[in-house]
Amino acid sequence: MSDKLVYVLNGPNLNRLGKREPAIYGSQTLDDIGAMLAERGRLLGASIVLFQSNHEGDLVDWLHEAQDAGAHAVLLNAGAYTHTSIALLDAIRSITVPVIEVHLSNPHTREGFRHTSWVGMAAKGTIAGFGAQSYLLALEAAVALTTDS
Ligand code: DQA
Repeated sequence: MSDKLVYVLNGPNLNRLGKREPAIYGSQTLDDIGAMLAERGRLLGASIVLFQSNHEGDLVDWLHEAQDAGAHAVLLNAGAYTHTSIALLDAIRSITVPVIEVHLSNPHTREGFRHTSWVGMAAKGTIAGFGAQSYLLALEAAVALTTDS
């Protein structure tokens, strides 16, 4: 059986992981997380495509691309756009590929403006608060998804 294609989309400031507020986001870089995902993906039969952009429209385009590429699932850490972007909400609703919302931190334990998630309104589910492990947990959940789950 061929590998399940999983898109991993990362929004603004996540290119700064490792240097950015390590007490909140940890010391691993996005490259480290990509390597962890690729390794776990090999075990689970998933091939990972990882993107990061600081621009909202790129994330919209990659959600559409995930559909066109026949992706099995998308892991989306939209960073601060999570809390502001109706364009991302609409983009998730414009595709049938399941999207799993991912966060390193747990936004619900933080400032009030992080308690709203437009992404979460359309996502299949959310994994937050486990640092870099959130991505691995989300990958496990993504691979386990079936068309009727
Ligand atoms: C984040 C949480 C967001 O509130 C924040 O804006 C980020 C990172 C996380 O992974 O914990 O940029 O998505």
